[in-house]
This record gives sequence, structure tokens and C-alpha cells, in this order.
Amino acid sequence: ATERSALFIFFGGTGDLAYRKLYPSMFNLYRKGTLQEKFAVIGTARDKLTDEKFREKVRKSIGSDSKEAEKFISHFYYEAHDVTDQAHYSVLKARAEELDKKYKLSGNQIFYLSMAPNFFGTVAGYLRTEGIVNDNGFSRLVIEKPFGRDFESAKELNESLAKSFKEEEIFRIDHYLGKEMIQNIEALRFGNTIIESLWNNRYIDNIQVTLSESLGVEERASYYDKSGALRDMVQNHIMQIVSLLAMEQPVAFTDSDIRAEKVKALRSLRVYNVAEAATNFVRGQYGAGNKVKPYREEDNVPADSTTETFVAGKLMFDNYRWSGTPFYIRTGKVLADKFTRVDVVFKKPLVDIFAFPGSTNTAPLDTNILTLYIEPKAGFALKINAKNNEQGFQTEPVTMKYLVDPEDSKKTPEPYERLIHDALKGDGTNFSSWQEVSYAWKFVDQIRHVWDLQAPNFPNYTPGSMGPAAADELIERDHRSWVYKL
Ligand code: BG6
Repeated sequence: ATERSALFIFFGGTGDLAYRKLYPSMFNLYRKGTLQEKFAVIGTARDKLTDEKFREKVRKSIGSDSKEAEKFISHFYYEAHDVTDQAHYSVLKARAEELDKKYKLSGNQIFYLSMAPNFFGTVAGYLRTEGIVNDNGFSRLVIEKPFGRDFESAKELNESLAKSFKEEEIFRIDHYLGKEMIQNIEALRFGNTIIESLWNNRYIDNIQVTLSESLGVEERASYYDKSGALRDMVQNHIMQIVSLLAMEQPVAFTDSDIRAEKVKALRSLRVYNVAEAATNFVRGQYGAGNKVKPYREEDNVPADSTTETFVAGKLMFDNYRWSGTPFYIRTGKVLADKFTRVDVVFKKPLVDIFAFPGSTNTAPLDTNILTLYIEPKAGFALKINAKNNEQGFQTEPVTMKYLVDPEDSKKTPEPYERLIHDALKGDGTNFSSWQEVSYAWKFVDQIRHVWDLQAPNFPNYTPGSMGPAAADELIERDHRSWVYKL
């Protein structure tokens, strides 16, 4: 791999995400040679730690004490830091300059904010005014969601960042965009005539996106209860997936061309009025069952919480390609299983020539379905109609399948490894642009608005199910059904 040089400053450097995902991903980049000699890391947080103590924790997080690991860890430094204390930034600056010289980093810096978003603006501001950001190399800001809790707050947050960083310097993480099979959507669509030529409302009846989780909220209830599934999963991950599925062909496979198409797709997503939002979206919250505590009995969840742990909805694009072809989406906690998949349901042949008066072919033709397995299985399946191998003539559906070998899957880089690598390269393809984020909020805000008008009747689904009955009714009303069901 090409060596990349940069100083990383991780704000929230002792947080769960840093230890669980970020440092192990950095170590992978080190083993593959993207990071070699010319990099250094400053971890900062409120905790008082020495460099030594910090390195010990990093060692534990990467799960290795090999020679290579020790060399990697020697690039890590720690600076206790209160992000609101202006004076502290000069300490940070001195450390940054010293490491820049020591490791020959050419002024390249990546500021990674994995911390409470209410401080994003403060940190970004001080990084600029206190002169940590300089004009020598590149300065990039990587931020983690939530990017606001509605359009207005997202806009405010964005404006505060924009004072210090240009849009092309801001890398908004959506870890779903770092997933192998999400990135494969573009390869599948734009690399295959047989797919892309059918990829429209003439041939596709509907598309279903399911992000199903089997776990509950774990230790994150205090965050989750203020967020809910709509903000936690739909506004970001689902909107990103849907825009990749719906967009027109980009001029070239570059970040600016892809972003332009995603934004165009999101702009043609119909923003619902009150009545439409009420009919086209369903919310749920899990109660008791299957040895799971009801959501309302989780620690840090109020006993009368109206936070949704499940969302299903129908999305309509008002454009030539998709008019009349709905995208159904759903996501939720403590559902039947943990998986992410996309089912593309094609229209039936206009005429079934096998079903003529007196025909012995009793089976009606099935619909073709292209399934994209995103996780944990990775691959595709295509259901087609064929003749069975018996006497007479009977059609039956068969499935052509390509699944990535689980051993091979293990070699697939983790989303964070890919995304940190892209940030080092300055490639924004798999990050969310401000425009994408803003259109996604405008759509979601309207659903939220309608939900806030009326208290829901919660709880309404059983742990281990696929959500409330209303989620099935939503699609059955249109004479369709979920491809994945229990
Ligand atoms: C996060 C959400 O963005 O995505 C979590 O905040 C959710 O609530 C997680 O569990 C799911 O990610 P993955 O990669 O496990 O599907």
C-alpha cells in the first residue's frame, strides 16, 4: 500500500468507539503499509492518563503485543484536554508541532471527533483560531453522527463547522457506507448491463430495504431514548442506501460525481404532507416477550417513553425512473435476527403463456427477486422461473446465488478501516455530504412532526418478531408483501 502521512488527533480518544473500532482499524492500516513511519496519534479526552497508560490501553484494544504492535503503539501520545478550555489548545498545538517534526508529517492533520456533538463547533473553532490548523499540509475533520436532531439543528451545527473547515475538508462518517456490500451496489448497478438496463419503474415493482437488529439498546439507552429509530437509522444509514439504489448513473466514479447524483435522487424523494406521512410510516416499540425486558423497563428509559424502536415506511421518488415504484424500508431493535438486505422485486411477465386453458402447469409464474445480502452474509441471489426436470411441463422458481466465502469475508476490511483510509486519501465518496444530510433531515422531519402530534400506542410488538402488525399492513395494503418474513 502507498504510505500516507498524517497526525491524527482523536477527540474522545478514550471512548468506546476509539478502543473498539478506531485503533484496531489504524493497526490494520499499519500492517498493510498505509501507515508506516510517518504517522502519529494524539489521544485526547478528560481522563488524566500518561502516554504509557494510554499505550497500554491501545495495546489491549488491538489485542496484540507483537513487535509490530509495539512499534505501532510507540506512535501514540496522550494529552488530557477539556475541549472548552481555550488555553489547552496551545498545549495541544505544541505537541502537534513536535510530533509533526519528529515523524515528518508535512503538516498533514486529521482531527477525529468521536465525542458529544454539542462540542463539535467549539472544537472546530478553537482548532482554527488557536492555530492548530495550518496551511502546510491537509487538515481534515472527521465527525461521527448525530449530525443534529432535525434540519434546523443540523444546519446550525454545519454553519459552526463551516466557519473553520471547508465542505471538502469535512468527512461525515456513515459507517454503512464503509460496508463492502453497500459499496458493491454501485458495482452491481453500473457494471452490469443486465441489471442497470432493468433498473427502473418499467421492470421493478418495488424495492425493500431491511436493517434488522436482534439486540436491544444495550448501554446506550440515554442516547437512544432521545433519538429513536427514525433518527438513529433512517435519517442516515437507510437514506444513504436508498440514495445509492435510486440515483442516476454518475458521470464517473468520483466523489463529486457520485454526490451530485445522490443529492439529485434525494431531492426527488417526495416529502410527505401530514396525511401522507401518517399513512406511509409506521412506528413501533417492543414490549415483553422471548425473555427480553420491555423497552420501557431498560435502564435510563422512562417508564412512559414514546421513543420508537422500530420504523417501517414507504418512500416515493418523483422522477422518471422511479415514479410509481415504491421503496419500502424497515429497521428495528430486538427483531427476529441481525441482518441487512435489499430485495429488488421485479414485475411479473406481462403475459403468462404457460397458463392457458387446459394447461397442466399449475404453478403461476413467480416474480424475479434480486436480493443483496449486505450482512452478515455477503452476496447476491436472483430468483428466476425455470422448468423443473420432470415429465410434462411445470415451471418453478430457482435461485442463482453468489455468496462470499465466510473465510474470504474475514479478510474484508472493516468499515472504519476503509473510511479512515479514505479520509487519509482525501476521498469523500463514502462520506455524507452536507446536502445529502440536509435533504435526509427534511424528509425525516416531516415524519417526526406528524408523530409528535399524537401519542403512540406503545408497546406494540413482541421481541423476536419482525415488528408491529401495522408494518405488514403498510405493504399488504398495496397488494405486496415483505420478501423476508418469519
Ligand atoms: C448505529 C446505530 O449507527 O448503527 C446503532 O446508532 C445500530 O443503534 C448500529 O445498532 C448498527 O450498525 P451495524 O453495523 O451493527 O449494522
